[in-house]
Order: sequence, then structure tokens, then C-alpha cells
Amino acid sequence: MKRILFSFSILLIAFSLSAQTNKLDINTSKLGIEIPSTMYGIFFEDINFAADGGLYAELVKNRSFEFPNHLAGWKAFGSFELKDDGPFEKNPYYLRLSYPGRNDKYSGVENEGFFGMGFQKDAEYRFSVWARNPQNDGDVELQVELVNPSSMDERQQIAEGKITVSGKDWKKYELILKSQIALAKGSLRLILGTNTKTLDVEHVSLFPVDVYHKDKNGLRKDLAEALEQLKPGVFRFPGGCIVEGNSLDTRYQWKNSVGPVENRPLNETRWNFTFSNRMYPDYYQSYGLGFFEYFRLAEQIGAEPLPIISVGISCEFANGSERSEKHAAVDQLKPYIDDVLDLIAFANGDPATDKWAKIRSEMGHPAPFNLKYVGIGNEQWGKIYPENLKPFVEEVRKKYPDIQIIGSSGPFPDGKDFDEMWEAMRKINADLVDEHFYRNEEWFLKSGNRYDKYPRKGPKIFAGEYACHGDGKKWNHFYASLLEAAFMTNLERNADIVRMATYAPLFAHVEGWQWRPDAIWFDNLNSFKTCSYYVQQLYSLNKGTNLLSLTMNGKPVAGNVDQNGLFASAVFDKESNSVIVKVINTGNKPQPLRLNLKGLKGKHQTELTTFHAENLDGENSLENPSLYVPKTTTIEMSAPEFDVTIPAFTFQIFKIKK
Ligand code: AHR
Repeated sequence: MKRILFSFSILLIAFSLSAQTNKLDINTSKLGIEIPSTMYGIFFEDINFAADGGLYAELVKNRSFEFPNHLAGWKAFGSFELKDDGPFEKNPYYLRLSYPGRNDKYSGVENEGFFGMGFQKDAEYRFSVWARNPQNDGDVELQVELVNPSSMDERQQIAEGKITVSGKDWKKYELILKSQIALAKGSLRLILGTNTKTLDVEHVSLFPVDVYHKDKNGLRKDLAEALEQLKPGVFRFPGGCIVEGNSLDTRYQWKNSVGPVENRPLNETRWNFTFSNRMYPDYYQSYGLGFFEYFRLAEQIGAEPLPIISVGISCEFANGSERSEKHAAVDQLKPYIDDVLDLIAFANGDPATDKWAKIRSEMGHPAPFNLKYVGIGNEQWGKIYPENLKPFVEEVRKKYPDIQIIGSSGPFPDGKDFDEMWEAMRKINADLVDEHFYRNEEWFLKSGNRYDKYPRKGPKIFAGEYACHGDGKKWNHFYASLLEAAFMTNLERNADIVRMATYAPLFAHVEGWQWRPDAIWFDNLNSFKTCSYYVQQLYSLNKGTNLLSLTMNGKPVAGNVDQNGLFASAVFDKESNSVIVKVINTGNKPQPLRLNLKGLKGKHQTELTTFHAENLDGENSLENPSLYVPKTTTIEMSAPEFDVTIPAFTFQIFKIKK
């Protein structure tokens, strides 16, 4: 009897052990659908000072004196006068400095930058200014200084030089300055150096010499490199709500963002007054980072450019979704439709025959940018959207049948508006539909099968804005990123219909944000990558070329009731000849896994990448930028079956060399 009981309990233990093991069946010998190269991309919007004061490396705020408060960002002293008959038609204002009345006084102006100007130690800065001597009475000197306004040293200057302006015609002058120290909150000071003379200054600019790719009108290197390191397949720009504008007048108008920077007019941003609890009244778009620069960046980082253009509907959150004078009527859409057609010409046209392509060529890019996609409308909903969209689709299809059109499904991932928009997009025959989901942890946990259930016919999906917003803690904590990783198995498994996905937003200045979480945070000198950034990067670097079937008990692994909080997907990568298995344990217990790699035998060198944090609320910061980073080790895996335990709250990737 004792022996029978003993054997029975051994059996029970064996049974419960095997019941706990999660067996993932992965068929490595049958390649599934191709994973699109566009699958994991980036979404850029000028929100949180992402452009001016962020990625765009210009350090001077209000460089053309065009803000409604023309001296915003500037402190002028001595004798100065604002004038409006300058050399640049779309930016007419400039500043006149003249004799301050006494030889021991000074006339000048000082710019505070964006939350101060960041100077790196021993780095060079290119100062430039358009200037003239209106009286034409000889040379005029301008003293140019990089300043530490809060210095306790004898001298505030950390770099200085002079330019000599001659003649009454406007000319551009340049000077390189080298900062002696690292300084997060410096400023630029200009002093009229020749008493009794007068000097006009316009478009005052200061760029680090060392910008991304050493481009003219370039981008901040650390921030652009962070994008490059994501290896994004698609690059969506310029937003977001700024596409729509607070009003139609302030929508993003790409035509104003190309050509010489001096003549790109200022635009309001959607994000200056949007949230009264985080208000930035002097937040404007200089358009210095414009469509040429976006296309150039897309090319440099190897991503497909994906511009989103206004559909003649201003932000519906601010202006309602009913037909009204706040939106363009269908018979007023011609200029908006032309904006789309001309944009395609700007990107792809022949400079010899097309006006817009000629501008592209003159800006330094005679070759086409190979634009393939265009989004028309950002987050639109209501009857007015399909009504407005229809003529755009007809005109684009007529002239550019190969361009893929992306339509919107509104701001939310479900509900009446969402369903109506999807139906409308099917009718209108959009190529892709842009879905947005800023949702809480519970939603992400429950949505692991979202796309398994979608119809396979009709428009494909562009998950154009998404992020897990933790309930009551909307910051970039590790747990949110873990749930994003879990959800992304669903994107991957459904790559036949989900063709692209972009986490949003990308950037935030620590002193200038309106919206969080975000992928990358920065101040004037440094930046750090969030846990969500690393999740995006892990997917992008391990996107593979073909889907592989991965199931547990015959079902997709998507955090369902009997799946112990696990999410998983698998791909094959032809380039590295590897099977890549992604597993996320969203539960609070370690989970034994058996990887059953059908089609593989013997021992295989495997890169095992683990992303884990003990503290689920933990996040990276400027002070501690690398607190949470994925770690990779090499293990040997035996196939077809390999047992391993995935720790609680962990994202692991097995890259198994075939
Ligand atoms: O990403 C921030 C905002 O969220 C975008 O501008 C808008 O499209 C969405 O509502």
C-alpha cells in the first residue's frame, strides 16, 4: 500500500511539473508570411519641444524676431529698434542696434535659447547673422559672445569673437566659437562694438558644428543617432495633431517648411496652450526642421518616409467634428489636395520639369526621395472626414496610382467612431488605416489577440500612435514597456495585415514637455532612452524576415486565461540564418518554458537577450540613463526541445543560429 501511495505521489509531482511547463511549439521548417521592412518605425511630432529646442540643432530661440512678442527669448539693451522691412519676405522683422547715447554704454541683445543654451566643453559653434550698416558709413563691429549668465568667475564669457559688417546691403556673416566649458544654461550675447554706428541684424543663428552627418541646417547628433540606432523601417512626420493645427491657419503647411530657412515663416504649434497645467506660450515652429530635412533624415536612417498631410479638417478635439467654418468645405479643398500632389512631386518628381522637385534639387537632393506612402488626415472622425478624404483619394489615384494612401480611424482604438471610420476607409479603399491607442496596462494585457480577429481583406493596418499609459502614473516605467513588448507579439503575428507600427511620441525636453510617456528624453546637453525605447529597438533589431508559427496547445500565445501571463511570437531571419523567439512573461512568477523547435536538431549557438527590472515602476533618467537596458549572453541550445525558465516580469529573445 505504501509503495502504491509513493508511486502515486511521484506521478502527481511529475504531472504537476509537466502541467506547469509551458510548451511553445515553433515550426522552424515552414516560413510564413514576410515581415514587412516597414514593420517597426518611428513617429515624430513637434510636441514637447521635439523640433525647435530638440532635434533641430539651432540654439537661438526666435532667431528671426517673428514671434508675436518680437523680442521673446531676447533681452535687448542700450539703443535698439524693431524694424519690419527686412530682406526676407516671409520673415520681415529685424533688429536695429545704434549708438546708446554715451561712449561708456552698450547696445546689444542677448538670446536665452530654449531653457538656456547647452554648450559642450571644447565644442565648436557656428554663429551666423544677416547684417548690414544702413548708414553705409564704414565698417561696423559686432562682438559675439557665448556667455554663462550665472557665472561666479571674473568673466561671464566662455567664448568670444568679432565680425565686421560692411556696406548697406544685407549679407550673411559667420564665425566659429569654441566653448571653454560644458554649460547647460548659457546664452548668446551680441554687442554693437563700434560706437556711433548703426547695425541691422536678422536671422541670428547658432548651431553646433558637430551636427548629425555634418549637415547644413543640421540635427542634434545624440538625438538623431538615437533614432538611427532604432533602425526604423518607417518614419512618420510631422505629427500628430500639429498636422491639423489649432485652426486651419495653423495646420502644418509643408510648403512653408522648404527652401531657404531664412524665409520659412513661423507657425504656432498645437502644443503651446493645449494643456493649461503645462503651458508654453512661447512654443512656436520655426519650420527650420522642415520637409526637406525630414526626408533627408528618413534616407539617412534607412526608413521609408511617411508624411501625414492635412485633409482640410482642423483639430477635431478643439473644433468639433461637425461641418462648420472651422473646417474646409468639400468645394474648398483644392489647395489642400494640391498640397498632397505637390508633395509627391517634391519628393519624387523630376527637377527638370517640376517646380517642387526643382526646389528639392536646389536644396541639395537632385535624386528623388522615393516616397511610397502618404497619410491624409491625422486623427479624424465623423462624417466630415470621409467626405473630405474622397476627392483627395480620387486625385492621388489618378495622378500617382502607385502611392499608398493611409486613412484615419480616429483617436481611439474602438467604439462607434472607430467602427464608422473603418467602414468608411473600406468603402474609400484606403491602402492602410492608421489606428491610435494610448491605453492603460489592463488594455494592453487584454489585447494580445486584437489583430488575430481582424478580417484579412481590405485596408491593412498602420498602428500609427501607441504607448502604454500606466494608470495614475503616466511615465516611462518598466512595466509599461513590458506590456508594449507583450502587445507587439500581436503585431508581429499578424504582419500579413499590420504593415507598420510606430510608438509615440518620440521626444521630450525634460523642461518643456506637454505629453508623456515618450521614447527619448533630453535636456540641453544630454539625453536618455526609456525602457519603451529599448523595447522598440529589440523588436526592430529582431524583426526577422518571415513569420514562424508559434503556439501553445494549438493557440497563439497572447496572455490568455490558461497561458500564465505569457505572450510570444517567432520569426525567421534569412540574413543571419536564425530563428528568433520572443517571449514575454507579464506575470509575477517565473515560468518554465519548453521551446519545441520543430525542424531543428542538435546544438545551436543562441544569443539570449533579457530585459528585466526588479522595480516595475523603475525608469531611466538623465542621472541614471542606463539603469534598465537589455542584456545579451550566449548560450547553447539543444533542439528540438530546450527547457528554460523565464523570470517573472521579463522580456526574453532567443536568437538561435540555424
Ligand atoms: O502623440 C501625441 C498626440 O496624440 C498626437 O499629436 C495626436 O495625434 C494624438 O492624439
